[in-house]
Amino acid sequence: MQLLSILGASALLLAPVFAQTFTNCNPLNTTCPEDPALGINHTFVFNTSTTVTDSFNITAGAITYGANGAEFTVAKKGDSPTIESQFYIFFGSVSVIMKAATGQGIISSIVLESDDLDEVDWEFMGGNSTHAETNYFGKGNTTSFDRAFYYPVSSNVQENFHNYTTLWTSEQLQWFIDGELVRTLPYAAANNGNNYPQTPMTVRMGIWAGGDPGNSNGTIEWAGGLTDYSKGPYTMYVQSATVNDFSTGKAYEYSDHSGSWQSIKIITGNSTVAQTIAAAAVPHLSLAQKFQALPSSTKLAIYGGGGAAGALLLFAIIFSCIRQRRKGRQERDAYNAKVEAEREQAYRDQMELREKGLGGWDNNEYATQGDDALGGWGGSYVPTAQKPGNGPPVPKLPGSVTVNEVPSRTNSPAIPRAADPVSRMQSPQLASPTPQSPRNWNGGNQGGLIQNAGNAYSGGYGGSTNILRSPSFPLSPQVPPQRGYPGGYNNGGYARF
Ligand SMILES: *[C@@H]1O[C@H](CO)[C@@H](O)[C@H](O)[C@H]1NC(C)=O
Ligand SMILES: *[C@@H]1O[C@H](CO)[C@@H](O)[C@H](O)[C@H]1NC(C)=O
Ligand SMILES: *[C@@H]1O[C@H](CO)[C@@H](O)[C@H](O)[C@H]1NC(C)=O
Ligand SMILES: *[C@@H]1O[C@H](CO)[C@@H](O)[C@H](O)[C@H]1NC(C)=O
Ligand SMILES: *[C@@H]1O[C@H](CO)[C@@H](O)[C@H](O)[C@H]1NC(C)=O
Ligand SMILES: *[C@@H]1O[C@H](CO)[C@@H](O)[C@H](O)[C@H]1NC(C)=O
Ligand SMILES: *[C@@H]1O[C@H](CO)[C@@H](O)[C@H](O)[C@H]1NC(C)=O
Ligand SMILES: *[C@@H]1O[C@H](CO)[C@@H](O)[C@H](O)[C@H]1NC(C)=O
Ligand SMILES: *[C@@H]1O[C@H](CO)[C@@H](O)[C@H](O)[C@H]1NC(C)=O
Repeated sequence: MQLLSILGASALLLAPVFAQTFTNCNPLNTTCPEDPALGINHTFVFNTSTTVTDSFNITAGAITYGANGAEFTVAKKGDSPTIESQFYIFFGSVSVIMKAATGQGIISSIVLESDDLDEVDWEFMGGNSTHAETNYFGKGNTTSFDRAFYYPVSSNVQENFHNYTTLWTSEQLQWFIDGELVRTLPYAAANNGNNYPQTPMTVRMGIWAGGDPGNSNGTIEWAGGLTDYSKGPYTMYVQSATVNDFSTGKAYEYSDHSGSWQSIKIITGNSTVAQTIAAAAVPHLSLAQKFQALPSSTKLAIYGGGGAAGALLLFAIIFSCIRQRRKGRQERDAYNAKVEAEREQAYRDQMELREKGLGGWDNNEYATQGDDALGGWGGSYVPTAQKPGNGPPVPKLPGSVTVNEVPSRTNSPAIPRAADPVSRMQSPQLASPTPQSPRNWNGGNQGGLIQNAGNAYSGGYGGSTNILRSPSFPLSPQVPPQRGYPGGYNNGGYARF
């Protein structure tokens, strides 16, 4: 009854007039498309536009982003930037960390809204910096008597971020401010459940001018008075929204026109919104970046372990270096010479490691880094469960992730082009790099093996001794016989040291 003391009778009927309470299809009257589910718990951090564009629709105006998160601004008459989630939750909790806008008549709001106009609200009047309003509606019933309640907040709501949380189950609705429970609405207390919000909800946030002179007196009064745009702009800041969907599934569907929670059918499957979120959460690393993130000992192991993957990674560095140096042809030519020298050095390092019986499998690195620490085909595969070392298994990127294939240097246009994505799950079919003048590149599969070269190169598949070795690396005469090196698929790959 607090409301009655503040508002005139006409305002009571107008209280729910929001800029954002609308529905495209009301399932109480007709059959509507199913509602896409969130189906997971997720914290949306509004520090980049992608958070909004990936998971929300901007239904009015434009959102900007700054150090305080997403900014919803009323600068002039008619502005009402608003976002609406692309997903629905079917019971759940929503915690929004936000700072309300100033400005008499300006309404900052967090709204849960369903297709049949069940609604749960947080509202902040720009003329009131001390209190937050809570409200709810069921099935669009706007006959309002005692639903809106105002609660004091520990500090200025327009100067400080606070945590406004709604916890919504089939039994009760609760509102929390900074973790403190301020209001509980049991199901039966909402007109025996008839006005109880109970259908899948979108999450909406926005700002509008309830105090616009064009609005009805009741609305202006409810909003706290006329808005003076010349004192604006008025901005609401949203840092984050943690949304927990208490149902899991692909979609929610009204199985009849009752609007009761029992009539909602959960369609099982993977939520596309959740998949988008998961995909966005995985850092998109190029091979070159992954390689550069490895410790140098592992890099050496990869050079040594060789094989197609080793060669590819080497190309990855070369490619990324070239990419970083697109500035001019001259510079690139100079750099190419350097790269050539580095490549030669890497090859010699590899030879040296072979001669010393090093390289290839690096147990320590594998234990801490998983398969990424492996260079090509060397060694024998150790299933995750049997992985040595005490640490937990290292998480890997999911299979659906794509990585950028590094194009063959020799096949690249003069200016490297953007790499085409290839599936990470693709079986390794990486072409050996094409020989380059004046030296032959010996990486790769059998083509990389060198007859009588001490088989220092153990990448690729061991085997044939009938391949001519590169004249550029006449190492074999100096290399003493050596056996038992565990690189390669089989020891035939390096039998002759
Ligand atoms: C059904 O649609 C009619 C006409 O559009 C509308 O007047 C009525 O309020 C709707 N009923 C419900 C329950 O939404
Ligand atoms: C989501 O959060 C709720 C608590 O808010 C928890 O009970 C539930 O297990 C969480 N679901 C998932 C999938 O983590
Ligand atoms: C946004 O916030 C997330 C989570 O705190 C953080 O990982 C990310 O780096 C931030 N992005 C920007 C651009 O600040
Ligand atoms: C968001 O926008 C898309 C594209 O316009 C539309 O298909 C979808 O229904 C919208 N989502 C919601 C919850 O309105
Ligand atoms: C803010 O709202 C509360 C609750 O309605 C009220 O008691 C208080 O006087 C209001 N403050 C201002 C400045 O209007
Ligand atoms: C709308 O809500 C009012 C107040 O709770 C209630 O008296 C009325 O019966 C409701 N109307 C419908 C159609 O449920
Ligand atoms: C916000 O409050 C809710 C409810 O008390 C709590 O579960 C949640 O962790 C809080 N969020 C943050 C970011 O503090
Ligand atoms: C609105 O309020 C103003 C001032 O209180 C009054 O003069 C005017 O007649 C009202 N208009 C309506 C339509 O009630
Ligand atoms: C959901 O996705 C997971 C992993 O992406 C997959 O294993 C599972 O089969 C999918 N379930 C359905 C019902 O599509």
